[in-house]
Amino acid sequence: MGQIEIRDLSIEYKKPKSDETFVAVEKVSLSLRQGSFVTIVGSSGCGKSTLLLAIAGLIPYASGSIEVGGRKVSGPGRERAMVFQDASLLPWRTVHGNVRFGLELQRWKRDDIDERASRYVRMVGLGAFANYHPHQLSGGMRQRVNIARALAVDPDVLLMDEPFGALDAQTREVMGGELLRIWERDKKTAIFVTHAIDEAIMLGDEVVVMGRNPGHVRAVVRIDLPRPRTPEMLDSEAFLAYRRQLREYIAADLVALQMIEGVV
Ligand SMILES: Nc1ncnc2c1ncn2[C@@H]1O[C@H](COP(=O)(O)OP(=O)(O)OP(=O)(O)O)[C@@H](O)[C@H]1O
Ligand SMILES: [Mg+2]
Repeated sequence: MGQIEIRDLSIEYKKPKSDETFVAVEKVSLSLRQGSFVTIVGSSGCGKSTLLLAIAGLIPYASGSIEVGGRKVSGPGRERAMVFQDASLLPWRTVHGNVRFGLELQRWKRDDIDERASRYVRMVGLGAFANYHPHQLSGGMRQRVNIARALAVDPDVLLMDEPFGALDAQTREVMGGELLRIWERDKKTAIFVTHAIDEAIMLGDEVVVMGRNPGHVRAVVRIDLPRPRTPEMLDSEAFLAYRRQLREYIAADLVALQMIEGVV
C-alpha cells in the first residue's frame, strides 16, 4: 500500500540555456512506513519540492529507485496524490467542481463523484461554500479545497508541498489540527514539506532534515510525542529539545554552505 522505499535517489535538471546538468538531489535514501506522517524541513533550494515531484512520478530521476507499496514509480499513479506548493485550483469551477475534477480525471463513477466530492468538501469545513468560486475564497479556504481534492481520490500516499505556506500562524495551527484528525482516521502515508520547524514537529512521526549543495538528507529525527498532538505540547521539554536539535541541523547546513561559497 503506502510503504515508500527510496534508495540512492539522484535527480538532475538541465541548466537553462546550457547543455550542463544541475544535481538537485543526490543519493537520498529514505524508508517511510505505511500510515506514517513524515515532515520534511530544510532551507530553500535543498530539493524538497523536487523530491516530492519525483515520488509523485511527475519528474524523472537520474539514478536510484523509488518504490511505493512495493512497486517501482515510473510515472503518476492513482495511489499517490499531491498538493502543490502553489495553489492550483481551476478558477472557472466551484469548490465542489474543483474537488470533482480529480475524480473525473480518474474516471470514477458519476454517482460516486458527486457523493465523494460533497463529503470531502464538508470534511474540510467548506460545506457552506460548495458553490463559491476560488476568487471568492480566502487563501486558507483555497488550500482546504486543494487538500480536499487530493483526499477525495482516496490515495494511499498524500504528498503535500508547503500546503499552509501562505497562511497566517493561527490559521496554520487550526489547519494542521484538522489535517491530523483526517489523517488519524484514514491512516494514509503522508509526506508534508514545511519551512516551520514547530509545525514539522507537531505533525510528524519523523522529521527529515534536508541540506543543500547538492540536496541530501542530513538527518531523520523520530518524534516520540504521543498522539493526538495538542497545542500544550509546544511548551513541553521534549518539544523544546526537538526544536533545538532540528535548528542545529539546519544551522550546520547553512554554515557548511557559506564555507563552500566563501562567505566565511
Ligand atoms: N525545472 C527546473 N529546472 C532547473 N532547475 C530546477 C528546476 N526546478 C528546480 N530546480 C533547481 O533545483 C533546486 C531545488 O529546487 P526545489 O524547488 O526542489 O527546492 P525546495 O527545497 O523545494 O525550495 P523551496 O523551499 O524554496 O521551495 C534549486 O536549486 C532549483 O533552482
Ligand atoms: Mg519547494
